[in-house]
This record gives sequence, structure tokens and C-alpha cells, in this order.
Amino acid sequence: MSSVLISDLGEHHGVRFLLARDEPTHPELPGNKWRKLKYNLREADRLGLNTLLTFGGAYSNHLAALAAAGRLLGRPTIGFVRGDELAHRPLNPTLARARADGMALHFLDRETYRRKHEPDVLAELLHETGPAYVLPEGGSNVLALPGCAELAQELLTRLDFDVLAVACGTGGTLAGLLTGLAGQRQALGLAALKGADFLRADINQLTQQATGRTYLNWELRTDYHGGGYAKLGPALRQFIVNFRQQHGILLDPIYTGKLLWGLFDLAAKGHFRRGSTIVAVHTGGLQAWAGFGGEPV
Ligand SMILES: Cc1ncc(COP(=O)(O)O)c(C=O)c1O
Repeated sequence: MSSVLISDLGEHHGVRFLLARDEPTHPELPGNKWRKLKYNLREADRLGLNTLLTFGGAYSNHLAALAAAGRLLGRPTIGFVRGDELAHRPLNPTLARARADGMALHFLDRETYRRKHEPDVLAELLHETGPAYVLPEGGSNVLALPGCAELAQELLTRLDFDVLAVACGTGGTLAGLLTGLAGQRQALGLAALKGADFLRADINQLTQQATGRTYLNWELRTDYHGGGYAKLGPALRQFIVNFRQQHGILLDPIYTGKLLWGLFDLAAKGHFRRGSTIVAVHTGGLQAWAGFGGEPV
């Protein structure tokens, strides 16, 4: 994989900001998507499972990316979508694109969806679809971590920084970055969903599974969700528009917009030591704009 692009975002309140642009690395599997998939694909091959199966909400970047991966790699993909089928008619742009990429979409009522990883529920779903390699929601399992760790390792060798910051949904990307940092520097996650305190335990569990340990050099902020998952209020939208005008870089409406918005706010409040350098990761997610009436202008 080619190395990640670094953009200098200048100084804000005495703190230097860099953006590690992982989103153009692979246009169809942007940012954390390819990183999380990479070692899972190897495992699927090892197990002799050609079909890839996963779960997601109707706007899931992960569903979209897995469908694109299936098309690019010539592998069948199956997506279980949260919610009744009728509620998703007509298909939104994310789901329409996933289907166009060849993903077989199945809809699960919310109760079954909630129980999807219980062994008997999963067995029944696989009975319906036939054998497949199962990726959890968001693609965040233990094998998602080493691909994300590679990004942290690359950044450590290329840049002098104090804090590595990333937006969190399931926490798998932050967990992977932590294993790559291996206790060096600080990491900061900003949760994109409301009530995300549970993520701390999930992240510790993932790093424990992957490397046999948990880390202390990180913090999760749960107060920059902007009203909840996929909520894009006028102030956040305006921030994203201004950011694009100033830096020529488009952020996504669900994750990275909130990340940069939150980081600049934290800098304004004196959260970071003056003179420190923060590297924020642009994890992609731009396909989601299609579900928000298109890219902002
Ligand atoms: C663009 C983008 N950024 C960040 C994240 C958060 O990643 P994670 O679920 O690993 O916390 C996601 C979700 O997968 C995403 O699509």
C-alpha cells in the first residue's frame, strides 16, 4: 500500500494540526476500510471461505466498502441490514450502491439484528445464506487491528507528533492504532455516537485479544457526538464547508467532520499542551454524503 498523505492544517490556539489523509489511499475502500479488511481476507482464504458476510445500518460505510471489495476481488458478498425491508424502500444511495456492486442484501428486524452475533441466531442466518466468512458490524474484530496498527507505525516513523486522534464508531480503528503505537505517544478517540462510554471496554477487549494487553496512553471523548450518530446539524455542516474552503479537503458528515470540529474545540479550550502536534486521521466515509443530499458546497 502506498504511504498516507500528510496535510498541514496549521496552528490553532498554539497547537499544530496535521491531517493523515488515509481517504485517497484506495478510493473504493477508503481509510480504515481496507486496513480493517486486509487481514480478514487472508483469514477467509485460509478457511477456504470465498463469500464475505457482514452487518450494518442503512448508511453503513462498512457495508458499502465490503460490497466494493467483493466486486473488485470477484467475491460474493452478503449484507444484513438493520431494519425492515419496507422501511428501506426505495433503497438509499448507500444500499443501492452496495446492491449494484453485487451485494445480496437481507433485512433483519431490530430484535434479530440486536442478537445477530449470538451463536444460534448466526447459525440460522448462515443456514439461510450458505457458508460465508462473517465480519462483525463495522468490520471491527481482532483481525481488523493489525491493518490499522500499520498506519500508526507508518506515522511514528514519518512524523514527530504528540497525539494521534481518530473518530470512533465501534472503536476497532482506535484499538488498532493503539496496538501500533505500542504505548508510545498519546491517542485520542472522539465518539461519533451518543452514549458511547461502553466503547472503552470494547477497545480494551480488542487490544487484549490482539496483543495480550491493554494500554493507558489513550482517552475517549464522548461529548462530541453532535446530537447523535449521523446527526448533521447546521453548525457542523458549516464547519465542514469552511474546512473545505480553507484546506481544500472534504470531511465526511458522520465521523471526520465531528473529529476535526471536536479537536479544534478542544484546542480552543486548552485541552492540548501549547506547542504540541496533533495528527488527526481522515478515515474516509465520503460515500455517506450521498445520503445527505450530496456533498456540501
Ligand atoms: C469514515 C469512518 N471513520 C471512522 C470510523 C470509525 O471506525 P471504528 O468503527 O473502527 O471505530 C468509521 C466506521 O467504521 C468510518 O466509516
